[in-house]
Amino acid sequence: MNIGEKSKELYRRARKVFPGGVSYAIRYFEPQPFYVSKVSGCKVYDVDGNEYIDFWIGHGALIFGHNYPKMVEALKEIVEIGTHFGLAHKYEVEYAEQVVKMVPSAEMIRFTNSGTEANMYAVRLARAYTRRSKIIKMEGGWHGGYDALHVAVSYPYNKPESAGLTDGAVKDTVAIPFNDLEAAEKEIKKEEAACVITEPVLGAGGCIPAEREFLKGLRELCDETNTLLIFDEVITGFRLSRGGGQEYYGVYPDITVLGKTVGGGGLAIGAICSRKEIMELMDHIKYRDKTNRAFHGGTYTANPLVSYVGMKMLRELEKGYVYPHINGLGRKLMQGLEEIFDEYGFEAHITGIGSLIGIHFTKKKPKNALEANMNKNVELSKEYHKYLLKNGIVVIKPTLPHLFISYAHTEDEINQFLQVTENFTREKRKHS
Ligand SMILES: Cc1ncc(COP(=O)(O)O)c(C=O)c1O
Repeated sequence: MNIGEKSKELYRRARKVFPGGVSYAIRYFEPQPFYVSKVSGCKVYDVDGNEYIDFWIGHGALIFGHNYPKMVEALKEIVEIGTHFGLAHKYEVEYAEQVVKMVPSAEMIRFTNSGTEANMYAVRLARAYTRRSKIIKMEGGWHGGYDALHVAVSYPYNKPESAGLTDGAVKDTVAIPFNDLEAAEKEIKKEEAACVITEPVLGAGGCIPAEREFLKGLRELCDETNTLLIFDEVITGFRLSRGGGQEYYGVYPDITVLGKTVGGGGLAIGAICSRKEIMELMDHIKYRDKTNRAFHGGTYTANPLVSYVGMKMLRELEKGYVYPHINGLGRKLMQGLEEIFDEYGFEAHITGIGSLIGIHFTKKKPKNALEANMNKNVELSKEYHKYLLKNGIVVIKPTLPHLFISYAHTEDEINQFLQVTENFTREKRKHS
């Protein structure tokens, strides 16, 4: 990527109006971002006319790729009807029915506008149900910026994640290593926690899959201690399978948090679902006394745009044709990357499942976020990321490259990714 003049000018203006010049730090690349003007399938184009293969695809939300015709069609249909009713409507009911049909552990649902919000309400719901305060989360687990979950997200895990977090907001949150059942057992058996929250695959923490025994163990420990198990399936929901990570692993949480793909890819969304007994704590008719109810709400919740588009796209995913395609490409990319790094003698490891892939410049394959971040070759990681970008391949996070595959990707883009990686390893070897 050679930053063009138009991107340079936009960044100069952006620096004046956005802190750091961006709307989200994760979208910043050294020395500055390029500015997107057009998207199509798995490609993005910048204002200077450069083309990129997009393996970030809208923070992983665009399982169908950019501007998927069926999604665009659905969006056009609903825009003609209305964008925001602020009242009950049939599309929200159809949307809810579709999610409940596909997510194995869901009986009832409430929608939010983001995964962050959904996690916030899920924790509140768990606290309301158990009447306990503590939350157990995973080191490296990213659940959005909600204070009580904004703990132990980035390495080192013992430091506050942000200025402005009060002691009160974070004192009830305990972080444990992912895939470490012993550590989990020690915390859960104290019987103080309202919930254990985990992603089935640690996403921002490095696309590290849970070991099945870990999730099964969490399920058993939670059952023994009346602790609720929350799966944050904002990334894995409808991506690992039609029924998400829970269907893939065959381990079922008490509460599921959804986001990204549940909205069909292009619209802001989040959702909390669970069995009736738990969800009913949000029922203002059943629980007229507010002190017994877990509040949830919001101006744009279940707006017709996302309800209609989300419902249509979930019905599309239900047909099942997307999964063999994205998982097959994922397998090919993972195998190919491993072979290249091996052949050229790099200390690098590939993690992931299906269409979620993490690339780690570590001595051994990480099974949790600490292993993914401690003693890694940060310089090499940044260099590789920069090389990918320069050669038209967008993946996120220089210090921990990870990526998603969409239905719009083909063998061609996977081959290009592998070729660029091979060029990188070859050039590095030549100069070492
Ligand atoms: C697992 C997980 N949970 C929650 C969130 C937050 O979702 P949102 O950005 O929609 O608030 C994200 C976002 O990347 C995520 O990956």
